[in-house]
Amino acid sequence: MSTVELANGVQVPLIGLGTWQAPPGEVEEAVKTAIDVGYRHFDCAHVYGNEKEIGAAVREKIAEGTVKREDLFIVSKLWNTFHRPELVLPACKKTLENFGLDYLDLYLMHWPMAFKEGDESFPTDAEGNFITEDIDYVDTYLAMEECVRQKLTRSIGVSNFNSQQILRVLKASIKPVMNQVECHPYLNQKRLIEFCRARGIQVTGYSPLGAPNTVWAPGAPKLVEDPRLAQLAARLGRSVAQVVLRYLVQNRVIAIPKSTNPTRLKQNISVFDFQLSEEDMEFIDGMNSNTRTCPFFQCKNDKNYPFVGEF
Ligand code: A2P
Repeated sequence: MSTVELANGVQVPLIGLGTWQAPPGEVEEAVKTAIDVGYRHFDCAHVYGNEKEIGAAVREKIAEGTVKREDLFIVSKLWNTFHRPELVLPACKKTLENFGLDYLDLYLMHWPMAFKEGDESFPTDAEGNFITEDIDYVDTYLAMEECVRQKLTRSIGVSNFNSQQILRVLKASIKPVMNQVECHPYLNQKRLIEFCRARGIQVTGYSPLGAPNTVWAPGAPKLVEDPRLAQLAARLGRSVAQVVLRYLVQNRVIAIPKSTNPTRLKQNISVFDFQLSEEDMEFIDGMNSNTRTCPFFQCKNDKNYPFVGEF
């Protein structure tokens, strides 16, 4: 599969398997199927609650000789309740213990906001807002550097960071190699992508299909049902999902569609045998409406809430 090179020389497959909302009971089988059909990149996170099952599947595929660990690109993310610098290294070690693996390929800070420390992943107040803490994400990031030094991960990066937040972490000695942000035709992130690339940071797009089964805003239009894309997909003899994924990877944005369905797993990785014309790319560019499926409004009052400012 085509890859993108990180600033530290590591190659990242342009399509990875998203595992958010992949239920523990289904994800193990899905990861095994994914490896069989060619996926080598797995996007995971502590907060998704399924690292153990994903790790079991990966280890089984390594044990049976289908893949080697070094063929895989495994990503996980530091959750918001572990931002206090002393908690970072133990959190990374816990993730590795969950996977049953010796190292990650990429460890990301999941969000710039710190949540109240404790057992609850989403500590919530009476108004339904998440309870945050005043911890600077730069201090958290500097603690993540230690994960690289101790070889717990090959690279580190961030997720859901805006351009100004990126600038602040760039002062670290181990630069972030990735910013993972929501990206699809309704939120194409052109300016943020350009900004990141100019600084040696690659971009992974999450919810590339617009997370169609998640009700973020009742009645919101669904990307995979967009008639403009349906028409384009019909002309090309592809599915809307394939057109959307091709749009991302043709822009050299790494895409991590989630699926646990074998047919859709295969479909989503089969986007390297066709191209979108320049006109088609421009047409999809024109669909941008800066609409987020994941606005994370419950922490919009936090000073580190990222979705403010221009980009
Ligand atoms: P399923 O797991 O049943 O395949 P996103 O990656 O944007 O968050 O979207 C994930 C959602 O999109 C999941 O609900 C997934 O359901 C569904 N999905 C994944 N692949 C496709 C596809 N090729 N066509 C339509 N829906 C898909």
